[in-house]
Amino acid sequence: MDAMTISLRRPDDWHLHLRDGEAMRSVLLHSARRFARAIVMPNLRPPVSTVAAALAYRRRIVAALPPGSNFKPLMTLYLTDNSSADEMARAAECGCIHAVKLYPAGATTNADSGVTDLRHCTAALEAMQSLGLPLLVHGEVTDPDIDVFDREAVFIERVLLPLLQRFPDLKVVLEHLTTRQGVEFVRSAGERVAGTITAHHLLLNRNALFAGGLRPHHYCLPVLKREIHREALLEAATSGSPKFFLGTDSAPHPRSAKESACGCAGLYTAHAAIELYAEAFEQAGALERLEGFASHFGPDFYGLQRNKERITLRRETWRVPESYPLGKESVVPMRAGEHIAWKLCD
Ligand code: DOR
Ligand code: ZN
Repeated sequence: MDAMTISLRRPDDWHLHLRDGEAMRSVLLHSARRFARAIVMPNLRPPVSTVAAALAYRRRIVAALPPGSNFKPLMTLYLTDNSSADEMARAAECGCIHAVKLYPAGATTNADSGVTDLRHCTAALEAMQSLGLPLLVHGEVTDPDIDVFDREAVFIERVLLPLLQRFPDLKVVLEHLTTRQGVEFVRSAGERVAGTITAHHLLLNRNALFAGGLRPHHYCLPVLKREIHREALLEAATSGSPKFFLGTDSAPHPRSAKESACGCAGLYTAHAAIELYAEAFEQAGALERLEGFASHFGPDFYGLQRNKERITLRRETWRVPESYPLGKESVVPMRAGEHIAWKLCD
């Protein structure tokens, strides 16, 4: 391996929004070229809250893959106030469903069917705990009295710590960490708790929302935070701790839905996901730690095999297109019209 290339075991994306229909068919290849597997988020309309719906969604994704692709979608269920213990048992049994996602009602895109109060989910959570089915958490309170930038930290205190006490063996992933408090929580919480970190939260702080004007394409949830938080995330991701692993939260929205008086949350990063992580790790002088974060710690946590294949990245600057197709519309990717320092070799 020379200085200009890095070779890694093929990575997986432990948090991905693929959408459905034409939009899904537009974005799928970006992920399938880079990753062997991805945990596919269930926040469709209507939400993917049953095993039958998850298996049907999985079939649509697999049918959209080009011949010869080995990409494996790992499905999730959307937790609601009505999720039953029986549905969790069927999910664990089917072999294709790997986790259940908690969206606090109203917290983000298509979260209106989310959980209004975790007390409604006791039976489902007990079942998940005994089945070893992880709970993936969108960790933000929705209380309008709480400052948007504090919602992750308050969620940890108000919701997550009591939840871990009530369910001492439940596996939990705090998704898309954005704060120092989130990092500290995951570090101190014992082996059954992990956290995913996005490329955009490693590379951007909240100034990116206002650089020379309002930047809707940098708006996501949880929202970008101060530089001290970005530094804490970069430190965690590059620390070599198996409690932190890769989850892009790549979330495509049509350009018109982002450039709007009430723009949608989500950055599209699937077009260059592993390349963007390589930039962040290089910035921290920790490229040798990228493989653990991207390719080892995720499957280890989920109890799956590490991938056998490898990928190669070359240090070569390329220009990102202004947009990519998204069904009949287009999506503006992270770094649109700008440069990325690493390139995937086929
Ligand atoms: O920015 C986000 N976009 N955060 C989420 O939690 C959901 C996602 C989406 O689905 O668009
Ligand atoms: Zn997400």
